Amino acid sequence: MATTRHFLQLKDLTREELDYVFERTRIIKARFKAYQRHWPLQDRTLVMIFEKASTRTRLSFEAGMHQLGGSAIYLNTRDSQLGRGEPVEDAAEVISRMSDIVMIRTYEQGIIERFASHSRVPVINGLTNEYHPCQILADIFTFIEHRGPIQGRTVAWVGDSNNVCNTWLQAAEIFGFRVHVSTPPGYEIEPERAGLHGREHFREFADPMEAVRGADLVTTDVWTSMGFEAENEERMRDFADWQVDGEMMRAARPDALFMHCLPAHRGEEVAAEVIDGPHSVVWDEAENRLHTQKALMEFLLLGRVND
Ligand code: CP
Ligand code: NVA
Repeated sequence: MATTRHFLQLKDLTREELDYVFERTRIIKARFKAYQRHWPLQDRTLVMIFEKASTRTRLSFEAGMHQLGGSAIYLNTRDSQLGRGEPVEDAAEVISRMSDIVMIRTYEQGIIERFASHSRVPVINGLTNEYHPCQILADIFTFIEHRGPIQGRTVAWVGDSNNVCNTWLQAAEIFGFRVHVSTPPGYEIEPERAGLHGREHFREFADPMEAVRGADLVTTDVWTSMGFEAENEERMRDFADWQVDGEMMRAARPDALFMHCLPAHRGEEVAAEVIDGPHSVVWDEAENRLHTQKALMEFLLLGRVND
């Protein structure tokens, strides 16, 4: 029997497999736009477990599974036994006997790893404190759609060295591009936490203007991620000079793209003129969560297909 594949970090798939997922994404997206039925996962069930809030991730997985012919079940910690101390391992044993694929949004990466090690079915990381691999799958697909291959390009990350940043850093090693990172002092990236092999694919800049200079893509995220709300006031002060504004975008390449995983806070990590301006591709980026995750689920459940 083939071993169960999980998607707990971006690097759980090889470069070749990620390229294949993008190839399938193009096909699946085109069929969706043409209202063509694509039901490879008929009678399959996705279980989605949320320990943190979500709009895009829930919607894209739930709609995506229906569009693939399957069904999706939503569980959260507030009204399931998961919030009442049932061991993660026991939950994984039971949930994976009743479903075909599981998506989890939770806190520590260790929780999803423990779940996966007791799951009979593929487990997908829908965001942890450490990583957000589904987001970067959509972001890179969006970059390729707009600008072609990302290999050799420069991505500027301005702001917090959070789960989305860590995943960009992993992506740089896999796809062969550079990340120029600028964080306030005290919020620097931790290469071990990002699961990196080396330091050659990123550079750190004290000044965000230097990080964005000549970049092909400028991206940022909220200053306070879910689970860190107690630090919010302190972060508002510490990050005040790390807002992506028009001046920063003008320092990037003239054709630079702007991305944000959303939800965004205009006037905090990004100025309205940037997120609502001509460089921004945030709505394409959000939509591509749907298409890339459909291709991902198809790949994890069926492997390579010929249709
Ligand atoms: N970008 C993203 O994951 O959004 P949600 O928190 O709404 O799922
Ligand atoms: N870094 C953010 C991403 C939200 C999609 C968070 O973890 O809250």
